[in-house]
Amino acid sequence: MNHFHYRGGQLLAEGVAIDDIARHVGTPFYCYSTATLARHFTVFQDALAQAGLDATVCFALKANPNLAVVRTLAQLGAGADVVSEGELRRALRAGIPPERIVFSGVGKTRHELEFAVAKGIFQINVESEPELRALSEIAAARGVRMPIALRVNPDVDAGTHAKITTGKKENKFGIEWTRAHEVFTRARALPGIEVMGIACHIGSQLTEIEPFQAAFQRVRDLVAILRADGFNIRRLDLGGGLGVPYDGETPPSPADYAKAIAATLGDLGCRIIVEPGRLLVGNAGILVSRVVYVKEGATRTFVIVDAAMNDLIRPAMYEAHHGILPVTEPAAGAPLLPVDVVGPVCETGDTFARQRPLPPLSEGDLIAFTTAGAYGAAMASMYNARPLVPEVLVKGDDYAIVRARPDFEDMIALESTPDWMGG
Ligand code: LLP
Repeated sequence: MNHFHYRGGQLLAEGVAIDDIARHVGTPFYCYSTATLARHFTVFQDALAQAGLDATVCFALKANPNLAVVRTLAQLGAGADVVSEGELRRALRAGIPPERIVFSGVGKTRHELEFAVAKGIFQINVESEPELRALSEIAAARGVRMPIALRVNPDVDAGTHAKITTGKKENKFGIEWTRAHEVFTRARALPGIEVMGIACHIGSQLTEIEPFQAAFQRVRDLVAILRADGFNIRRLDLGGGLGVPYDGETPPSPADYAKAIAATLGDLGCRIIVEPGRLLVGNAGILVSRVVYVKEGATRTFVIVDAAMNDLIRPAMYEAHHGILPVTEPAAGAPLLPVDVVGPVCETGDTFARQRPLPPLSEGDLIAFTTAGAYGAAMASMYNARPLVPEVLVKGDDYAIVRARPDFEDMIALESTPDWMGG
């Protein structure tokens, strides 16, 4: 469900014509819908409440850290899952209170841990024994007891793309399942730390419920073991990972997901924390781009657009599929011809779609890559000295540029040439 639709032959974001934004902002740009963000957050939160769960929804900022997007969710009551000092600063700046922020990540530096402890956030999800020792020293030195969860690696196959699966024992994340009890016992003995619970995240873009169920069951088993040993386990952070439809997939609904949590963990009396990223923002964003040329190759037609892999890297990095909509609605019965949609970057990997059946496109036409709100702008770079793609937020009939396109001087502002090179 999203709020990008055709009206009068033109693609709109809520009440705003994409073509109007393109004329004002230039292309390429990301466009987000406030109504879609709000709907996704509300549907997800309601599903958890209806399943009878005492749950806190901590938006995984990595999916879309734009301040206006985060603030939209913050105003609806979202907390944040952050993985760096930068994301923590963004969450705070967007108005998320520290007591709704969890800090995840396999390589938090001492500096980052110090910052998080100083801000008094809700919880740090510790992923290793060295991190545990570092955090213990830091918190003890400040005379506080930092609430933590230990992230365990349940060794469950999420059945998703290899680059975004995290819950197998060969993955770098979390504490090995078989050693979890031992590490919890060590943690209990350390000063500056209060062990509150268990954290677990098995991967992203999951389209089946079974891997979640298997992971939650393992968490349940661990709660029993730890409680029998006197641990007061009262929080369970279940990570994110619920998939969205990019290409006809049918991921579990928020209601199914909430029911799976309730069925395995609902009776334990624990506060549940979830860290959805993609689910909240994926469908709420599109990447709008203009056709630069249409080139007839030896064996295929290339539609060359002005967005590139630096703006949306998911197809190049994960062979990901993004829908493509012409911004001017195609005539009913328009022929669909297979084309390759490519960007201008000097790599064959800079290909958004291969042999995609699309209605005829010509120079100057606008297209939209759909479901681009998650891990789109967030993963953009300036490769090929291309400016970071701007972002626009729509609300009803209004829109605002929420990240401007940098100009050339902005792009080189942090660079300098050493004195020995002369002026
Ligand atoms: N919590 C933790 C600890 C995570 O590592 C992640 C994602 C999330 C929550 C949010 O997961 P989500 O609900 O968005 O699936 N760049 C990749 C996705 C990387 C996901 C990394 N971790 C992509 O474009 O598909």
